[in-house]
Amino acid sequence: MAMQLKSGNTVFIRDLSLYIGKQVELQGWILNKRSGKGIIFIVLRDGSGYAQCVISEEILAADSYKEIDSLGLESSIYLKGKVIADERQIGGIEVQAEEVSIYHNTQDYPIAKKEHGVEFLMEHRHLWLRSKRQWAVMRIRNQIIYSIHHFFQDRGFVQMDSPIFTGNAVEGTSTLFETEFFDKRAYLSQSGQLYGEAMAMSLGLIYTFGPTFRAEKSKTRRHLSEFWMIEPEMAFYDNERNMDLIEDFIQYVIKDVLEKCKFELAELERDTTMLENAAKPFPRISYDRAVHYLKGREDVNGRNAIQLLQDDLKQAQKRIVEIEEDISTREASIKAGGMKKGVIAFNENKIKELKTELKELEELIRNIPQWIDSAQNFEYGSDFGGSDETVLTRLFDTPIMVYNWPKAIKAFYMKKAEDNPDLVKGVDVLAPEGYGEIVGGGERETDLKILIDAINHHQLPMSAFEWYLDLRRFGSVPHAGFGLGLERLVSWVCKIQHVRESIPFPRMMGTLFP
Ligand code: 4AD
Ligand code: MG
Repeated sequence: MAMQLKSGNTVFIRDLSLYIGKQVELQGWILNKRSGKGIIFIVLRDGSGYAQCVISEEILAADSYKEIDSLGLESSIYLKGKVIADERQIGGIEVQAEEVSIYHNTQDYPIAKKEHGVEFLMEHRHLWLRSKRQWAVMRIRNQIIYSIHHFFQDRGFVQMDSPIFTGNAVEGTSTLFETEFFDKRAYLSQSGQLYGEAMAMSLGLIYTFGPTFRAEKSKTRRHLSEFWMIEPEMAFYDNERNMDLIEDFIQYVIKDVLEKCKFELAELERDTTMLENAAKPFPRISYDRAVHYLKGREDVNGRNAIQLLQDDLKQAQKRIVEIEEDISTREASIKAGGMKKGVIAFNENKIKELKTELKELEELIRNIPQWIDSAQNFEYGSDFGGSDETVLTRLFDTPIMVYNWPKAIKAFYMKKAEDNPDLVKGVDVLAPEGYGEIVGGGERETDLKILIDAINHHQLPMSAFEWYLDLRRFGSVPHAGFGLGLERLVSWVCKIQHVRESIPFPRMMGTLFP
């Protein structure tokens, strides 16, 4: 029989608390199932939330009960039942089934409860998305997107779209994805900024929100080949105003997520201290000063970068000894016998957790000496590496803004600093907890001649930039903007290990399927 919709009148699990004592219809998938004597407990998920449903043998026909008992994980069902308040259950609710019908009886769902490696999960991304953690991340991503639009729309910004096929580089030629556009060479957009500047000269305050592409052949936990960027561009802004806006913007979005995604953050076991801290002002630090801090030449907040790393190292070594002892004690007592089943399971679980922590600590112990080395030998004028950003942000309890960067390492369009010809008025926002750069931006060069020199200096084809130069020929004004990498922000907010989990279907070197 063809699959037919059982009801168009179902309610969403997230709204169940409104129906206590009432009968509802639900449709969803079985996340979890266990059976007792004459009773089946199901955790049903419908995309909006999770609900414990109880199916008793008494109320269903024997055949039907048997069939439901045979359902595997991720089977899809329709369920009619009564909503009962029960504070021990998810959302404080239990649904007592009165009628159940089956859409699809699934057996052998590939992502069962057992632990899978990330590689396996990535190959099954299309199914992995159904897991509770991924659900929570995607809902937080959605909230962030919504809050971003809200923030800008509220302030009179107009959302505009920049093209994906482009004829020129924005952020350096080494990371361009080349493609064909009829008989011409084209590139996938690295950034909508240059178009954003043109649009800001028309509408004043604009933002773009679209996919951007980078072909860097790096496999770090921060890099995607395709990511979503929010790029506001503001006429009559200098970098000071730009930094004010960035701070307001990030604070607004994070506050919203903290308020509206409590369940999701709890599901991710996110310690939200650092997110709450983001309500405090972001320290603004010049590149020069940041280099001093990084090299440990100057303390900040009573902390010294190199000293901190050395302390971290000692701390990690101490903790490793503790963990190893803890593991062997637990293993010994399990081996000794006489332990109850439940207690054994508890200890085995604990051992697993400890081993994960151990692995992380061992990696830290390998890394920290390299980080110290990199920080101490950092060369003034070069770009901060991932570990340098981690070390720098470790000195603060909030995101930080680093401004006035060496001209040599920044893009051609950055405005020269008034007091130092070797610096440009760029700004990067670095997130704490090891996440590093989430925003890059700055004030744009307005002087036609300086811009032409910069394009030549970067060996970019002048003809491709003629239209851009027109913005300086006709009614040029001071302006600034920035780009926020959506996935970098989602990763930090959710504290996920790798940026690949912050987007439904990540595109990275080596990942084109699913
Ligand atoms: O610092 P970027 O390269 O700056 C720009 O593209 C400017 N045109 C933006 C502007 O001023 N309008 O990129 C901006 C942000 C980074 O801070 C980072 O958050 C994110 O985009 N980003 C990436 N995210 C994931 N994977 C990558 N490969 C990324 N490259 C940049
Ligand atoms: Mg950058």
